[in-house]
Amino acid sequence: MPTESTESSAALFERARAVTPGGVNSPVRAFKAVGGTPRFIRSAQGAWLTDVDGNEYVDLICSWGPMLLGHAHPDVQAAVVGAVVRGTSYGTPTEPEVELAEEIVARTPVEMVRFVSSGTEATMSAIRLARGATGRDLVVKFAGCYHGHVDSLLASGGSGLATLSVPGTPGVPESSAAQTIVLPYNDRTAVSNAFAMYGARIACLITEAVPGNMGVVPPLPGFNSFLRETCQQHGALFISDEVMTGFRATAQGGWGLDGAVEGWSPDLMTFGKVMGGGFPAAAFGGRADLMAHLAPEGNVYQAGTLSGNPIATTAGLATLRLATDVVYAHLDEVSAYLRAEVSDTLATVGIPHVVQHAGTMFSLFFREGGVRDFAEASEQSTDAYAAFFRAMLARGVYLPPSAYETWFVSAALDDRAVTQVVEALPAAAVAASTALEAS
Ligand SMILES: Cc1ncc(COP(=O)(O)O)c(C=O)c1O
Repeated sequence: MPTESTESSAALFERARAVTPGGVNSPVRAFKAVGGTPRFIRSAQGAWLTDVDGNEYVDLICSWGPMLLGHAHPDVQAAVVGAVVRGTSYGTPTEPEVELAEEIVARTPVEMVRFVSSGTEATMSAIRLARGATGRDLVVKFAGCYHGHVDSLLASGGSGLATLSVPGTPGVPESSAAQTIVLPYNDRTAVSNAFAMYGARIACLITEAVPGNMGVVPPLPGFNSFLRETCQQHGALFISDEVMTGFRATAQGGWGLDGAVEGWSPDLMTFGKVMGGGFPAAAFGGRADLMAHLAPEGNVYQAGTLSGNPIATTAGLATLRLATDVVYAHLDEVSAYLRAEVSDTLATVGIPHVVQHAGTMFSLFFREGGVRDFAEASEQSTDAYAAFFRAMLARGVYLPPSAYETWFVSAALDDRAVTQVVEALPAAAVAASTALEAS
């Protein structure tokens, strides 16, 4: 049993707000979109979070993706403890980084990788590399896709930005935003037109392999292949951002869903979350000839004091080695079961909704009909979601505190945890329905 805490979430939030903007270190954690006080978590084990007030929750955000195996997995813990005992950072090359790079190269289309400390750093560096390698400046992205808080990529980002309705660009120089072309997702005509107009100036197109930052919005069949071909025709690079989907949507990430089937492969990819095993680690990688542009081989500069940190790479390696086909089969099964239960329960109260998924990732939209892009995602009832969220939380289920986020399952979800989720659904469905009628 966790030890007693002397302060409640409410008291800690008060203290936090005095010393940290909004009381949190990443905006969506503040519960602004759903109301109420953020829960301060004291410990986590398997599929469960325990807050400082002693409440337990089934965790369906998994630290926003990384905790694929569940919390405090004994083998990951043992590997990390072993690494900590040997020292925590040397600023030199180490064996775990080589092993983790080999593991990523073996599981994905990339030939080489470089480690960084966050997904934001990974996409920022991949774009710098693309610009350096092509000698071009423009970047194409899709509205609703989030690639971290990189200046040029904040134009029309999803999730946190969508949640808070923060305009895409305060603090970002116009000159930086002007280098970014933002297009509607799943819209081939928009892509073709943009490349027809600017093709010779476009360094790269960056997309989430499967967008999960406007809720889960799968690419229409052939869309990623089409993007790949369009980039190739115009001499631009295709960057598949797998920070969220990598080793999460499937064993090979989002690429495994349609890349393996349709035969496309990206020039560059970015990874984060699962490959860090709960530590700050991320990576970008791709074709060896492109990666050779990076210093010290080439002249595109990129560096990091804690890049490839031995604790983070040890945790990531242990996690990936434990993420076997058996684990993904379990995640698929749990995900499918929960999706069906959510949808059936909401159908019982007659509330319009759609549950969309890609591999093990899924999310819920309170609206009629499927969602293909950010404009459609924005037509959902966020009030209904907020009521649904609060009712689930009150019954011990921790969902993403935003309607624009993915729900993440872990391999630690067992019958007890799944039953707690399912039993909470009817009351949450009624709460959502009541909120929808009132809005
Ligand atoms: C697809 C994608 N790219 C990049 C990022 C940024 O990663 P980080 O928060 O580690 O900077 C995220 C974060 O959620 C993401 O989902």
